[in-house]
Amino acid sequence: MSIEELNYQIYACRKCRLWQGAKHGVPGEGPLNAKVMLVGQNPGADEDELGRPFIGRAGKFLTKTLAEHGIKREDLFITNIVKHISPQNRKPYSDEVVACLPYLTTQISTIKPKIIVLLGASAKETPRLEGIEYMEIIHPSAAMRFNNMRDKFRLQIAELAKRMNRLS
Ligand code: URA
Repeated sequence: MSIEELNYQIYACRKCRLWQGAKHGVPGEGPLNAKVMLVGQNPGADEDELGRPFIGRAGKFLTKTLAEHGIKREDLFITNIVKHISPQNRKPYSDEVVACLPYLTTQISTIKPKIIVLLGASAKETPRLEGIEYMEIIHPSAAMRFNNMRDKFRLQIAELAKRMNRLS
């Protein structure tokens, strides 16, 4: 299946309840030959409005922190484990994660990234495929809010930059 077909399925998805409160499904974005994939939880209000991942406050903080470490957002494939917004931004329920996972699995097997960065607890449910390096790091919205987490998050992004340099 092509990414366009997959995106179309995500826009039209009704496999769980979340589509009912959403304006847009948010498949994710980035080059199809990206070496690094970022996986967050699910879209927030800004992402739902525009249909793009990580473009709200947490996304801006993420993009800025990546840039401070020499990583261009446009080089990464950025997505979420769940592709629709949830009511009051609650954590997706496990049946919602399970319903949505095949989309992420297809994205991983199509893009074949070398490194997958899991942002926060929800993203840890991402399928682990042979030959891919996984990094579990703090979610940028937590890093934005708490000083100690911000410092740790910066170190984790620095480590990602180091691993990316090793790839090329
Ligand atoms: N938080 C997420 O986990 N994903 C987004 O796309 C935006 C905020």
